[in-house]
This record gives sequence, C-alpha cells and structure tokens, in this order.
Amino acid sequence: MDFKFIALLILIGSFMGMTVAQASCDPETQYEEEGQCCLMCKPGTSMSTKDCKNPRCQSCPDNHYQDKYTTENKCLLQPYCDRNKNFEDPFPKSKTQKSICECKVGFHCSSKDCITCVEHTVCQPGYGAKVIGNKSQDTECEKCPDGTFNNNTSWDAHCRKWTECETGYHVEEKGTHTTDNTCGLPRRGHIIVISIISVMAVITVVILVLLYRGCIKQRTKRYFKPLHPEEKPTCTETTLNMPLTPEENEDDPSHELSSEGFTEKGNQVMQERGKEEIVSRQESQLESQFESQEDSQSMDPFYKPVQACTSAVES
Ligand SMILES: *[C@@H]1O[C@H](CO)[C@@H](O)[C@H](O)[C@H]1NC(C)=O
Ligand SMILES: *[C@@H]1O[C@H](CO)[C@@H](O)[C@H](O)[C@H]1NC(C)=O
Ligand SMILES: *[C@@H]1O[C@H](CO)[C@@H](O)[C@H](O)[C@H]1NC(C)=O
Repeated sequence: MDFKFIALLILIGSFMGMTVAQASCDPETQYEEEGQCCLMCKPGTSMSTKDCKNPRCQSCPDNHYQDKYTTENKCLLQPYCDRNKNFEDPFPKSKTQKSICECKVGFHCSSKDCITCVEHTVCQPGYGAKVIGNKSQDTECEKCPDGTFNNNTSWDAHCRKWTECETGYHVEEKGTHTTDNTCGLPRRGHIIVISIISVMAVITVVILVLLYRGCIKQRTKRYFKPLHPEEKPTCTETTLNMPLTPEENEDDPSHELSSEGFTEKGNQVMQERGKEEIVSRQESQLESQFESQEDSQSMDPFYKPVQACTSAVES
C-alpha cells in the first residue's frame, strides 16, 4: 500500500511540474524548445529562419494563407473557386484566412458539400418567392395569395399587395394574381366635371335661342314698320315670308276689284254700310268700332295688302 501511495504522489508531482513548465509558454504564440519558450510567426506569414527569440517571418505569397501563429516555412494554398461552376472568386484573397468558395448571386449550392452551384428556381408571373434564395438555399415559390400580385419572372420577388386607392379614388380595374389594382379619377370629380359641362351647355343653348329670337323680331320690324306702323300682330307671323306687293294682290281673285280703283271699292263699302244701317242700330259697340275701322281703312291706300294678308291666313 505504501509503495502505491508514494508512486501516486510522484505521478501527481511530475504532472504538476510539467504544467508549471508549460504554463510559462503561450501555447498559441510560443513553442517550447530545450526548456525555453520560443516565438512563432504571425498569421499571414511563414517562418523562413528559425531563431528562438528572433525568428524571421515572411509574408504569404498571393493566393496563399496562414491563419495561425506558425513555425511552418510555407503558407497554405487558398482553395480554387471555379467560376465555371458558378462560384464567386473572391479578390483580393485574405492571407490570414482560408477563403470559402461561395455561389454567385442567383445561385446556391447543389449539395451540402457544395461541389457546384446551381441557379435558383424562378417564380412565374402569378407566383412569388415565399423564401428568397441565398448562397446556400434555393428560392421557394408560392401562388400569390388573394389580394397580392406578381408580374415578374424572377427568383427574388415576393407577391406584393394590391395598391389601395387613395380616398376619393375608386378601383377602376380590380387586380389579379399578375396585375395591380388601377385607381380611377375620383367619382366626385366626375360629377363636378359633368355638371359644369351640362350647365355650360344649357347656358349656351339659352343664349343661342335668345339671339335667334331677337334676330327674327328685328327682321319682322324691318319688314312692317314702314308699311303699317299700327299693324296688329295677327298678321305679322304669316306675312313674314310673303312681302305684300301689288302683283301678289292681283293673284287673289277676291280683290280683283281693287285694281280697278278705290272708288268702286268705296262704293261697295258704302253699300254695305247702308245695309248695316237698315239693321237695328242697337248692335254692340264693337261693331261700331269695326265700322269706324272700316271707314278709316277704306281710305287707307295700304288697306288691301292687309286684307290679302288675312285671307292668306284663312286659306
Ligand atoms: C439563407 O436563408 C436561410 C433562410 O432564409 C437562412 O437560414 C440562412 O442563414 C441563409 N444563408 C445565407 C448564407 O445567407
Ligand atoms: C418587377 O420588376 C421590376 C424591375 O425588374 C420592378 O420595378 C417591379 O417592382 C417588379 N414588380 C414586382 C411586382 O415585384
Ligand atoms: C407585366 O405584365 C404585362 C402584361 O400583363 C407585360 O406586358 C409586362 O411586360 C409585364 N412586366 C414585367 C416586368 O414582367
């Protein structure tokens, strides 16, 4: 038992002695040689000449790296990133870190080992990226949910929400899985524009009618004022298109007498008056007025044209 105990103590003691000796050297940056702690070269360099306290280190050449403190006299070659396999070739390459060959944008590793890179899945119109692909993962497409759309054929476009028309505007054409909502002019605006146009149209029509009527009145005045200053309106309408001339009066058989002379006519009138006198004098005042009118008209040289006019109205 005693021997075993002593042996254990010696073992523990020797371990402790070893740890004390090792603790004096930094395992990351130093190495031990002949009981001494010696310096290693920095990352990004290699050791060209060994010297415990003052080693010679040289920088790694291009495309090489050293990522740790080292006693090696050579750097490590960087992995080759093959562009033909759709890898991105980083440049300049680090001398202190191993390059990781990554897939170009739009590509992802074909497998866990990433031997080659393959293109992302492209989502067709009506579909969008549920998960946008990256260097290690493919794009996942989904059919655009209702209320969203995507018109692009791409691996990096999500479905987007339909545009919400601003207040006052209305959805002119509802969106689909591939098209956005289109917003129309505000309805109120439509109404305002339409009402302004119709009010203007009405005003224009009214003005035109007034102008037209004013024109006709002026024309009728021009025709009849010099002929019959006291003309009654009953005649004006029909005589508008038939100016009264002696020739026209001759055409009318009921007034053939007129061309013979006024005295004849006058006699006729007198005869008629004689008849009237026989009829009781208690006729209406209107009649007497009529008589006096007849009297004055019979003296008026332009009386016949008026008769022609009234007869024209009757016929
Ligand atoms: C790729 O995308 C996935 C999920 O979106 C993510 O977990 C992963 O970290 C990404 N990888 C890279 C290299 O960006
Ligand atoms: C489609 O692509 C164009 C340009 O590539 C972009 O401007 C547009 O926003 C995209 N549309 C959608 C719905 O992502
Ligand atoms: C969007 O869709 C229309 C037809 O719906 C097409 O003419 C246009 O080119 C598309 N735009 C894109 C960016 O794909």
